[in-house]
Amino acid sequence: MAKRRILIVLAEALLASAGAAAYFLLAPDSGTEEVPADDSAQAQPPAPGVAKDEITIRNITDKTVRYELRPYGAETKPVSRALKSGEIDRFPAPRIIVITYEKYGREVTYSLYPGRPYSFRCDSAGKIDIWAGAHGLETAVDLAPWVPTPPEVIVKMCELAEVDENDVVYDVGCGDGRIVVYAAKAFGARGVGIDIDPERIKESKASAKQAGVEHLVTFILADATKADISGATVLLLYLLPESNELLRPKFEKDLKPGTLIATHNYMIPGWESREVTSEVVLDAEGTEHSVFLYRR
Ligand SMILES: C[S@@+](CC[C@H](N)C(=O)[O-])C[C@H]1O[C@@H](n2cnc3c(N)ncnc32)[C@H](O)[C@@H]1O
Repeated sequence: MAKRRILIVLAEALLASAGAAAYFLLAPDSGTEEVPADDSAQAQPPAPGVAKDEITIRNITDKTVRYELRPYGAETKPVSRALKSGEIDRFPAPRIIVITYEKYGREVTYSLYPGRPYSFRCDSAGKIDIWAGAHGLETAVDLAPWVPTPPEVIVKMCELAEVDENDVVYDVGCGDGRIVVYAAKAFGARGVGIDIDPERIKESKASAKQAGVEHLVTFILADATKADISGATVLLLYLLPESNELLRPKFEKDLKPGTLIATHNYMIPGWESREVTSEVVLDAEGTEHSVFLYRR
C-alpha cells in the first residue's frame, strides 16, 4: 500500500485561530522517501487536460521553482527543470515519476502519478510544496482539487445562508454537485453548479437525477473565473483561499448587493468587513470544519 496520505492542512491564520483543521489537499508524503504506487492510484481515470500517460505541474506561486524528475525505480540521471510562475510543465509519464526539490533548506522527494495534474502552491507558512491539482488545463485557473464537502458542513452552509425555495444557489467549483443538489432537495431551491471537470459535471447530473431535482438544477462545464454567476441569490463554495481572493473582484462585480456567500474552511481575503458570522462544524468523523458567511 502506498504511504501517501491525506495531509492535514491547517487553514490560514484566521482558521487556525478558530482552532479548526481542514482536510483539503492531497499531497504525497513529505520527507525524502519515495512512495511506491498503489492500486487506487492505478484505478483513477486521468484528469481532463492530462493524458493518461503524462503528468502536469502548474506553478501557481510567484517564484520560479527548480526541480528534478526521474522515473520511479530507474537509476537514470534525473532531468533538471525550472518552471516560471504561472507556467505548466507537461511531461510523459508512462509510469510513476519521482520529483525532487528543495524545501526548508533540504531536498524533498515525492512520487507523482501518471494521468494526474499537480500544482506548486505555497503552504500556510509560505513555503512552496507540491499538491494535487484540479485539471491540468492551460486555459483555466486551478482553483482547487476535487475534495468533497461533508454533508454536515453543507447543512450548516445552507442554514447560515438561510436557503429557501425562493433562492438560486450557485456553487463555483461544484464537484459532484452535492451542495446544489442538497439545496434543491431539502429546500426546493433552484441551483447552478459550475465545474471545469467533465467527470464532475457528469456525476452532478446523475446525482440530480437520482435525487429527483433535475428540474431545479443546472450544471455547467466552464471555468468558474469566466462563468456568469449574476443569477445567484446565494453562493456556496469550497475553494482555496488564494482562489477566493482571485474571485473576489468577480463576486463584487457580478453578485447583487445582499447576496449571501458561505465558504467552507477558507475565508475570502479582503472581505473581512463583509463577514457576517462563522461557525465550526464537526463531520461524521469528528473533524472540525469552519463555515464563513459573507454578505455582498
Ligand atoms: C474542493 S472541490 C469542491 C467541490 C464542491 N463544491 C464541494 O464543496 O463538495 C473544488 C472543485 O473546483 C473545481 N475547479 C477547479 N478549478 C476550477 C475552475 N477554474 N473552474 C471551475 N471549477 C474548478 C474542481 O474540479 C473541483 O471539483
